Amino acid sequence: GVNSLMRITPSMLKQHNKREDAWSAFHGKVYNITPYLPYHPGGEKELMRVAGRDGTRLFSLTHAWVNVDYMLDECLVGFLVNEP
Ligand code: HEM
Repeated sequence: GVNSLMRITPSMLKQHNKREDAWSAFHGKVYNITPYLPYHPGGEKELMRVAGRDGTRLFSLTHAWVNVDYMLDECLVGFLVNEP
């Protein structure tokens, strides 16, 4: 539920850059992308480029029309915030 969502800084996000533990941010929301990797139509390698970082720019360049909020709703971890 919304109460368990985390506030995640860029340095926290950076820790999750492995295939088995991959997080990425899109439009201010942080998702666990690991479960989606095998299903990405553009391939795992492409998606792993944004692991541990903000993927908004690359996402918008490749397919701005894809609704990530809807597709990865179950994988939402929290919200990207600035370093304290
Ligand atoms: C294709 C979802 C992130 C690169 C696709 C398609 C979907 C999708 C649904 C098929 C789109 C279509 O055919 O109209 C997602 C989701 C992402 C994500 C939910 C975030 C979790 C990314 C990122 C990149 C990327 C960050 C680039 C670094 C591509 C490429 C294709 C593609 C190159 C085209 C594959 C082809 O047509 O051969 N993605 N994507 N995607 N995606 Fe992603």
